[in-house]
Amino acid sequence: MTAAEQQPLFYNPLEPGYVEDPFPHLAEMRATDPVHHSLIQRWILFGYDDVFRLLRDPSLSVSDENADWEGSERAALFEKVLDGRQLEASTSILNVDPPDHTRLRKLVSKAFTPRTIEELRPSIQTMVDDALDAMAAAGGGDLVAELAFPLPFDVITEMLGMPSADTERIRDWSEALVKTLDPIITEEELEASLLADANMRDHIDHVIEWKRDNPGDDLLTAMIEAEDDGDRMSPRELRDQVQLLFVAGHETTVNLIGTGVYELLRHPDQYAKLHADPTLAPAAVEELLRYTAPVQFSRRIATADISFGDKDIPSGSFVMACLASANRDVEKFGPTADQLDISRPDAGQLLSFGSGAHYCLGASLAKLEAELAIGTVAARFPKARVVDAHWNGRINLRGLDRLVLEL
Ligand code: HEM
Repeated sequence: MTAAEQQPLFYNPLEPGYVEDPFPHLAEMRATDPVHHSLIQRWILFGYDDVFRLLRDPSLSVSDENADWEGSERAALFEKVLDGRQLEASTSILNVDPPDHTRLRKLVSKAFTPRTIEELRPSIQTMVDDALDAMAAAGGGDLVAELAFPLPFDVITEMLGMPSADTERIRDWSEALVKTLDPIITEEELEASLLADANMRDHIDHVIEWKRDNPGDDLLTAMIEAEDDGDRMSPRELRDQVQLLFVAGHETTVNLIGTGVYELLRHPDQYAKLHADPTLAPAAVEELLRYTAPVQFSRRIATADISFGDKDIPSGSFVMACLASANRDVEKFGPTADQLDISRPDAGQLLSFGSGAHYCLGASLAKLEAELAIGTVAARFPKARVVDAHWNGRINLRGLDRLVLEL
């Protein structure tokens, strides 16, 4: 029996071993039911071409308001937990359609030009060197705690000009918040997430007030000025963009650096190749992005009936794009799609940053941070060895929350 003739499977991220290695399950879904209507009332696309088409189709929406949740378990869970309270939808660029998306993205993207990002190179390299000096002096340590987490967190805190005193609280809120990105959540997780969201919004409102009186040479000041200039961004919109940048700025790159180093060490030939030729660092990052997919899913909402393959998806459906699966599609990347090869010529075709109008705004920043972090680890520590690794348990923002290395 060929794979295509097998009984369709149900996508089940709760299957034992999924978080550690989702790729065999994703490969089965691609082979047996690439346009899948899942038990959790969502459609999921697993093939490269379908994912690409979904993300780039401007007729689709990213606003939850267009989703038909009628009768779904998720809607029932939200109703129960909210208990009559109204949920204030986010107006961040990740959650709004044109014309608002076009207007807001233009304002936010001013600070993300290739030149502005490249100017951060020396300070990011210093942060990397300081963290690795400390680890080297100790003979090793937890790379996630010492480098993969603090680096993107500190970089985005500094870029925005946020006060650094509140780090601990913000970390906790952010962690609780991103849990709602997973396709399945518990009542407790949803409660914690809504509370964290409210706390974080209040906190950002206070920081914005403070920043109005204490402007600086930072992204937040620039965004406040954009808000004041002709009322192009409302206070609520400003707050929601700051929250998105802050959360997206670190909850993703931590996984690229942590899982990236881990995968290289599990493929010693690739690690040795990078050690021998540090100029391969940007290509290695590209391939690690493809291979690990630090954000495993994006999503769109159908605003009219739409077909993929032989399936008709009704208007109002929530459609998930499995970026992690698309990146391993043999139809796109050939028979070696499941192998890590830091010299792969077409790794740049990856969909890890999405595609189309919502393509990740922080892609060049994330790549620069990872290039310096992963490149420096490989250049300095040819004998590095994994002592202990632990997965964070997340389905979407999959990564390691501990990676203990001996250097
Ligand atoms: C390895 C790191 C990262 C990955 C894998 C990643 C991935 C993604 C993905 C998949 C999307 C949605 C694209 C779509 O649906 O088409 C996205 C959007 C976005 N990302 Fe990232 N991201 C990363 C790092 C960052 C960083 C460092 C920042 C900011 C400092 C950032 C800011 C954003 C923003 C603002 C959006 C929304 C763009 C829009 O909707 O127009 N991301 N990212």
